[in-house]
Amino acid sequence: MNEDLQQKISDAMRDPKNIGEMPNADAIGTVGNAECGEMLRMWIKYKEQGGKKVIDRATFQSFGCETAIAVASLATELIRGKTPEEALAMKTEELSGELGPLPPMKIHCAELVEGALRAALQGKEQSAVSRAAGPQSPSLLDKFSSPQNPGAKIIFLKENK
Ligand code: FES
Repeated sequence: MNEDLQQKISDAMRDPKNIGEMPNADAIGTVGNAECGEMLRMWIKYKEQGGKKVIDRATFQSFGCETAIAVASLATELIRGKTPEEALAMKTEELSGELGPLPPMKIHCAELVEGALRAALQGKEQSAVSRAAGPQSPSLLDKFSSPQNPGAKIIFLKENK
């Protein structure tokens, strides 16, 4: 990865935007990447603007990779005010915003963000949205370590002192 891109990712990581669950979300999308074990969930809240349904706010949670977090941070800012159709029409490289073109080995990081966004916009997790209001709502950690993901194992690293 070139130094300029690494610097932009580090800048985005220093102050990532829109991290965290959104309890009153209208839509949720979750995507896992079997290749690297990454998982990303996105929450979306809509609002009415000028007679159109537009994205008011989007938040995300992610396990791992800095590039996916940087792209998710930028993408959740870029899709604000867009209709679901406009957001769906955005290409992977557009979601990466100011990071610019990603090297081939990092494109799947942006595709993870795109996948979670598409899943949310296309209403693939409606049941999760209605469950989100209840105490039994599975967290991203629950989902990541559930039996449906038998290959996934989360190991918390000890902090070096
Ligand atoms: Fe897999 Fe970034 S390395 S999402």
